[in-house]
Amino acid sequence: MTMQPGWVPPGIDIGKANVARVYDWWLGGDHNFRADQDAARAMIALEPNARAIARANRAFLGRAVRFLAAEAGIRQFLDIGSGIPTQDNVHQVAQVAAPGSRVVYVDADDVAVAHSKLILDGSAAAAVIQADLRDPARILADPETQLLLDFTEPIALLLVAVLHFLADADQPEQIVATLRDALPAGSYLVVSHACSDPRPDLLSALETVYKNKVSARGRARTSAEITRFFDGFTLIDPGLVWAPQWRPGQPDDVPEHPEQYWFLVGVGQLPPRSQH
Ligand SMILES: C[S@@+](CC[C@H](N)C(=O)[O-])C[C@H]1O[C@@H](n2cnc3c(N)ncnc32)[C@H](O)[C@@H]1O
Repeated sequence: MTMQPGWVPPGIDIGKANVARVYDWWLGGDHNFRADQDAARAMIALEPNARAIARANRAFLGRAVRFLAAEAGIRQFLDIGSGIPTQDNVHQVAQVAAPGSRVVYVDADDVAVAHSKLILDGSAAAAVIQADLRDPARILADPETQLLLDFTEPIALLLVAVLHFLADADQPEQIVATLRDALPAGSYLVVSHACSDPRPDLLSALETVYKNKVSARGRARTSAEITRFFDGFTLIDPGLVWAPQWRPGQPDDVPEHPEQYWFLVGVGQLPPRSQH
């Protein structure tokens, strides 16, 4: 019998791979098990660039949060599908750029939530709630959300590498619209999403591995479908681009073939409040 480490919340079956722990393995974390590693390796067999893509996604998240806190004046973040904490978590990046920034993390996964609680212990400016993106009203009404976020001031809604885990039947566009309609004027939406345009066959094969080995549904989407998540928002420069292309730290950080990092990413803003 495999011993479960003490940090594993009760009731977790570590014999079954899960989305948060597969991603943790790609990022080099140690909150994952044999089943997660096997699933991650099966995907690497199809896409040798998988780890680099996961890291490019995480790096985009850091750059977007830094931009929002340091340049766009955002002081509050709602991060849904936040994952297992690793380095450069949203509250850490935001608070370096703008001390006092507040973050509500949301994830459906027990391990991600348990670890976020450990990391956030004692932090008055950040909290984690366990909830499903498919129930946005519950996320918005949660007492932690209501306590930490001021819905009269702009908020950044982060949906980073999570919307592709929603099936079409979940009506992801409607979910994003429900969240958008709750956001104050001038708020931002940050999205990254697996895009099928460059290599539809590969993305379809990866979906099958997720379905069979990770029990995850959802799908990669076309750039036209991903663009629709920004309905009501104005995409800020440079628009919807491959992950390494979004405001790179150095021009050299953009690889020669950025479409090989087939995550499309973008940041949009709701119209700001009129000034008169
Ligand atoms: C690939 S990780 C992304 C983590 C982080 N946003 C990042 O980009 O670094 C996806 C996360 O979304 C969570 N997730 C998947 N489906 C979800 C849902 N329906 N509701 C809430 N969280 C979900 C998973 O548990 C996982 O932690």
